[in-house]
Amino acid sequence: MDKSPLISLKSISKKFKSSAKVSVEDIEILKDVDFDIYKGETIAVVGASGTGKSTLLHIVGTLDRPNQGRLLFGNKNLFDLDADELARFRNRRVGFVFQFHHLLQGFTAIENVMIPCMMGSNLSKKKIIANSEAILERVGLKHRIYHRAEDLSGGEQQRVALARALVMNPDILLADEPTGNLDKNNSIQVHSLLVELNQELGMTLIVVTHNSELASLMQKSVTIQDCKIVDVVGKNSNEN
Ligand SMILES: Nc1ncnc2c1ncn2[C@@H]1O[C@H](COP(=O)(O)OP(=O)(O)OP(=O)(O)O)[C@@H](O)[C@H]1O
Ligand SMILES: [Mg+2]
Repeated sequence: MDKSPLISLKSISKKFKSSAKVSVEDIEILKDVDFDIYKGETIAVVGASGTGKSTLLHIVGTLDRPNQGRLLFGNKNLFDLDADELARFRNRRVGFVFQFHHLLQGFTAIENVMIPCMMGSNLSKKKIIANSEAILERVGLKHRIYHRAEDLSGGEQQRVALARALVMNPDILLADEPTGNLDKNNSIQVHSLLVELNQELGMTLIVVTHNSELASLMQKSVTIQDCKIVDVVGKNSNEN
């Protein structure tokens, strides 16, 4: 594993405005969080509901901005980039999978997977189709490539979402409760896929999860509590 981090969180703090009429205080969610994320590692983010796990993931994926702090990618603070540069960074470098698949209804599995490439790469359409077919095949959906999203089962839809997140070969895959809507069998399939794809493709994988089986498959487990990372448990003692 590389010595220098892929992404570093430096003193990241996040507050939200309270929507409650009685409260004028901002709600502090993260306070001075420092954390290094290395190439290829797998991390589970765990903690009680409402502690800021999704918020942290959104900041790492630059979907949300902190009130304070830097997010370093190489020597660059990603929050110094303008909106276009940031969108390009996300498209090229980051894959997202959420609890709900967010596939476009009315479009086929492969059309859904092709979208990030059509928007963000200079590849020919032929190459984009080939890459999209290959990743759909890899997630076990060779027989569903030309089926419409809404005709697929929940497990299949989530595997299309995973293929879409990976088709640009991102450096980092961010998954927020990726199997939260799936039954046990489908969850186990997606959990195995995540681990296998990390090993095959080498992308960093960060999963927010309440699922202890999924968390146990990750190399590192990070617990958030009281606006801080309070515990980092690694299976590989030579990291960090
Ligand atoms: N856009 C927002 N505006 C105001 N408050 C917000 C916003 N987003 C999140 N919060 C608050 O921030 C806190 C942390 O939310 P977050 O979604 O990160 O928690 P979580 O750890 O992912 O919880 P869960 O395990 O239930 O998904 C919650 O109290 C939530 O209500
Ligand atoms: Mg959450």
